[in-house]
Amino acid sequence: MKHTEALNQMRLGVCYYPEQWPEELWDDDFRRMKELGISVVRVAEFAWSVFEPSEGQFDFSLFDRALELAHKHGIKVIIGTPTATPPAWLTHQYPEVLNATYEGVLLRHGLRRHYNYNSVKYHELSAIITRKLAEQYKQHPAVIGWQIDNEFNCEIGEFYSQADHDAFREWCKRKYGTLDNLNEAWGTRFWSQTYSQWEQVFLSRPNAGGNQPNPHLALDEKRFVSDSTIAYAKIQADILREVVPHHWITTNGLFGHLDSHRLQDDLLDFFSYDSYPQFSTIHYDARDERPLADRKWSQTLGAVRSISPQFCIMEQQAGPGGWVNKMDMPSPKPGQMRLWTYQSIAHGANMVLYFRWRTATSGQEIYWHGLNDYHNGPNRRLREAGEIGAELAKVGERIAPTSFAADIALVRDYDNEWDGEYDVWHGPFSKASGTAWYKALTRRHIPSDTLCMRPGITTLAQLQRYKVLVYPHPAIMRDETAELLTEYVRGGGIVIFGCRTGYKDERGHCYMRPFPGAAAELTGISVEEFTVVKGTRTPVSIQWAGAEGSEGALTGAESFNDILRPEAPSVEVVAAFASDYYAGKPAVTRNRVGAGEAWYFGAVFDEAAAGQLLDRLGIVSPAARWLALPEEVELAIRENEQGPLHFLLNYSEQPAILTLHEPKTDLLTGSKLSGTVALDGFGVMILI
Ligand code: GAL
Repeated sequence: MKHTEALNQMRLGVCYYPEQWPEELWDDDFRRMKELGISVVRVAEFAWSVFEPSEGQFDFSLFDRALELAHKHGIKVIIGTPTATPPAWLTHQYPEVLNATYEGVLLRHGLRRHYNYNSVKYHELSAIITRKLAEQYKQHPAVIGWQIDNEFNCEIGEFYSQADHDAFREWCKRKYGTLDNLNEAWGTRFWSQTYSQWEQVFLSRPNAGGNQPNPHLALDEKRFVSDSTIAYAKIQADILREVVPHHWITTNGLFGHLDSHRLQDDLLDFFSYDSYPQFSTIHYDARDERPLADRKWSQTLGAVRSISPQFCIMEQQAGPGGWVNKMDMPSPKPGQMRLWTYQSIAHGANMVLYFRWRTATSGQEIYWHGLNDYHNGPNRRLREAGEIGAELAKVGERIAPTSFAADIALVRDYDNEWDGEYDVWHGPFSKASGTAWYKALTRRHIPSDTLCMRPGITTLAQLQRYKVLVYPHPAIMRDETAELLTEYVRGGGIVIFGCRTGYKDERGHCYMRPFPGAAAELTGISVEEFTVVKGTRTPVSIQWAGAEGSEGALTGAESFNDILRPEAPSVEVVAAFASDYYAGKPAVTRNRVGAGEAWYFGAVFDEAAAGQLLDRLGIVSPAARWLALPEEVELAIRENEQGPLHFLLNYSEQPAILTLHEPKTDLLTGSKLSGTVALDGFGVMILI
């Protein structure tokens, strides 16, 4: 049973590290938090050496005192289990707990996340510290929940210690039963890779190509890392469920090689994410003249929402970010911190904790700024946090019970992501197409979700929440997934695929069938020929016939072209390639199946092509009837039976001019608005 009640109210919080500060500061810290409207702190996720200064010697006194003070000020506490930072005594005494590089070099003490998930010793020591902590704080009146570890697979998502190689071999035995099955799955006849004894099986290791493992092994390796992470987290979750069944459990972060959906389903009450939008504003698609930088974060928040519809932001950016040796992010401008906080809330966060209360004065993160500066006096960031605290105290109750609403979902899945990290013939395309679609949608103010396709788990009802599913390049497609999508389409759904769809099975073998393999029947086409578009190939264009009431258009067909051939009478050719030897051949098709449609786009999507498809499908913003917005402003909708909340988030520093054709009220200010309205630079409105 999930503790879903945990997110029934809107909470503002902050990450706090009492162990890093003189004790005289604590009381004032909690008092000032309370004044800002902060009602929860997360503590202790890196404090193992405080709790257990040497093996088997425990000392909870520092946190006992800190939690007592938090309680005195009415502040609730989330305890992080401290296993992301094993102490020096531990790794020195038991080096077998350390992670290792691909080459086998041990990753030593000194940063964090230097342990591996498969060391029996680490399991044992993690279980002890988790149980001790849970026993210590199970009755504490301030404690409400637990964060397991911190950011699984952050810093590093690859594991090559001895324990990992050994565990992988056992994982393979469980998965394949016999070496014959394993050899078949990994296609080892190729280049004489056949294994004749289990002792010969390892995770990938340096080879003549450097780092070029067998591709099927490489895919299994990622599945193994994900399973190892979840099995490790389960050790802690089981203890917490046993000792503190009245508290909720979460973990934070969204990193590679981890099926976070399964982690959530199996172990957590809800998911938490750490939101630093400046990673996107400074890195996002610098070549794009209209990059929509902050919106990359909205897209990521959509991925978080696919794991848990309402969630916690365990770390929300509260100032400039930077480590001593890397990352040097500008200071958020006035209003930006508030804007990003509402971005999280608009996308489904019901609990938001700033990272962190005060900037650290020593260590790696002396430039990762918290709400307070080193000097600890008043500053702009604190004022902004106080403003948000006061607003949420007023409107939080109206927002908390609502959920994000979208009619269109971008589909992704772990198999293709993991296979695509190695396979350059489809891997890079998903990200490019996903970004193109998200930009096209958000520029048109069409809210969208992410949907994770999970073979054997995803249901028809889950798909049917959406009118349109865009599944850009599912190279790996099981027949059962194609069947599920076919049912969805028959029932009236619209599915859109891009090039390289359906040609691999779940092992990563190519089907001996015409492309698009598993999706051939649903799309009603075959791929007559295909080519990578690079080198001597001049980029090709696609000529679209005019949609009803609109002109024809030319769009790009980058990176890869699938030249299509209709195979079923129900297929209509919507657009054709405009150049090269396949000029005039079908590039975009639509197959009507039952009450729905299956589209095939024979290239990697760009924004213009996504726009063409949206036009042809007649998909517009759900607020189009009454609201005109410039593209700098994001529209996100949360709703419940009381009606929709329209979040308007202005990512531009300049005021944005909106036109309201119907009178609305801004929930945040209570102002009645109609006609032409200015939304401040970095401003937020919630229209009802
Ligand atoms: C997160 C992490 C925090 C802190 C922050 C800033 O990834 O959970 O502990 O390190 O980034 O670097």
